[in-house]
Amino acid sequence: MKRPTVVAAFALALAFGFAQAQQPIVIKFSHVVAEATPKGKAALKFKELAEALTKGRVKVEVYPNSSLFKDGEEMEALQLGSVQMLAPSVAKFGPLGAREFEVFDLPYIFDNFDEMHKVTNGPVGATLFKKLEGKGIVGLAFWDNGFKVMSANKPIRVPADYKGLKMRIQSSKVLGDQIKALGAIPQVMAFSEVYQALQTGVVDGTENPPSNFYTQKMQEVQKYLALTDHGVIEYAVIANKKFWDGLPADIRGELQKAMSEATKFANDIAKRENDDALEAVKKSGKTQILTLTPAEKAEMKKALVVVHKENEARVGKDILTEVYKATGFKP
Ligand code: LMR
Repeated sequence: MKRPTVVAAFALALAFGFAQAQQPIVIKFSHVVAEATPKGKAALKFKELAEALTKGRVKVEVYPNSSLFKDGEEMEALQLGSVQMLAPSVAKFGPLGAREFEVFDLPYIFDNFDEMHKVTNGPVGATLFKKLEGKGIVGLAFWDNGFKVMSANKPIRVPADYKGLKMRIQSSKVLGDQIKALGAIPQVMAFSEVYQALQTGVVDGTENPPSNFYTQKMQEVQKYLALTDHGVIEYAVIANKKFWDGLPADIRGELQKAMSEATKFANDIAKRENDDALEAVKKSGKTQILTLTPAEKAEMKKALVVVHKENEARVGKDILTEVYKATGFKP
């Protein structure tokens, strides 16, 4: 009588194994911005492509707006494997010990996206990703957002206008030095907390590209926006290394295809998304847009380039030299 049980058990195990094998591989992709942003749309594009190219063997769950993990939690969650993919701003790698990423935060180091792509698609980009491997993280791609504007509740045209203002920044020492160079007070804060902090006056102002400004409704709590173009927000798309290396080779191949198409998509839409967002801010009539004169911009630049020398050792002289070569920036 015993024999059928062994066969049944074997059949059950087989069925379970087969069912398991049919289970899609799940990628949790967490980020902190709204869906109607360059990163928000690119993450959904990656989901669409990854699921199509792997014929459903991979399922991508995108968690926008800090709905799963917020700033300050994301990186650890990735290293622990609680989430498989992130696309944080390059300004958020300092706390992880990869402070070289803050080279992107140096004021006025990029004049346009082409210069930035020479860095992200060149040796510097590869060197920066190498620095993540020892931390259980693999770098997959760089996605653009755009050039930052400064905002506050008073007209901000020249460095003197920033004196004593509390300005929210991302967790980057270079950005802290940038705000101090304007005579203002830097305040590191999670992105998800910025709107409320501006509303309650915990901070007076902040910096971000128009797409983040508009989708976080900052026009409701900021009377002035200055078109400074003083820096960029760029994203590093990263994955948990153990997860990524553990993928079946064919799946990883398809995901790399999906990532490179999603990267092209992200970088193709970034500028337009920010131009459209700035138009929408204008249309809202809630925030006055300040276009700086060449003299005002020159004054901003003069006040801020000191940050380069101050942080040469931090970001690495070699990396800085490479970036200067790629962008033609003269400190
Ligand atoms: C910020 O914290 O201001 C940005 O990095 C948010 C983002 O991901 O664009």
